[in-house]
Amino acid sequence: MEFPSELKTKLKFSNKVLALTGAGISAESGVPTFRGKEGLWKQYRAEELATPQAFSKDPKLVWEWYLWRMELISEKSPNPAHFALAELEKIKSDFFLITQNVDGLHKRSGSEKLIEIHGNIFRNRCTKCGRSSASDLTKLKQSTECGSCSSLVRPDVLWFGESYDTNLLQRAIELAADSEIVLVIGSSGAVGIPVELARIAKENGAFVIEINIDPSGYSRYADLFLQGKAGEILPNILPYFK
Ligand code: OAD
Repeated sequence: MEFPSELKTKLKFSNKVLALTGAGISAESGVPTFRGKEGLWKQYRAEELATPQAFSKDPKLVWEWYLWRMELISEKSPNPAHFALAELEKIKSDFFLITQNVDGLHKRSGSEKLIEIHGNIFRNRCTKCGRSSASDLTKLKQSTECGSCSSLVRPDVLWFGESYDTNLLQRAIELAADSEIVLVIGSSGAVGIPVELARIAKENGAFVIEINIDPSGYSRYADLFLQGKAGEILPNILPYFK
């Protein structure tokens, strides 16, 4: 991949780099995306299960889906795209990563300056007392009761129709507004707030680079669209940031 010299200079000398990732970055690890062909579980779409209403109606069904996802994810590993971002964090002093993914693969690849804006599937929290704990798959398969108050626990993730954590969202907006370069990787743009972050960044003068196999809801804000797999493109463009 060859870039014009002006862009090469920008990539090399900009320090405030923000990466915004979605399910597509984990696709090459074998984690199904939400809106891809394999996004369905049984006959359900994510939007039908990842809601407070679905959980109140049938907590067993929703937990069954999450336990299936947890099991699947725990057998997968980070791919070259995750590792490239972990390396970028070491190259750029003001790097930050905001992920919509709940799969924990960014952490496992070594990223530390990270906001998991939709939560983490490997944590749960009590619907009554709010206690949050690391999830133990084997124990959860036997019981989804809170260890403190015996009420029902739920996955510690953001569901459709729920509000973002105010502090996390504020921090994400500040990072977007302050960034020089934004990398939007593997997200469809079906969820409004992450797209807003790209818009805010763009309006505040950031250079937006999108990496996706297909155009998305973010593409209108992209200064550069790199079409292809994140696991191939990211390691390829990494040297330009050095
Ligand atoms: P989606 O499943 O909506 O979109 C995945 C995106 O990744 C699509 O745009 C694909 O084209 C792209 N893609 C697939 N494979 C790729 C690859 N190898 N390299 C690069 N791109 C690839 O996932 P998200 O946009 O993350 O929210 O979905 C956003 C949110 O909706 C999720 O966080 C979740 C979901 O329902 C909540 O649960 C709140």
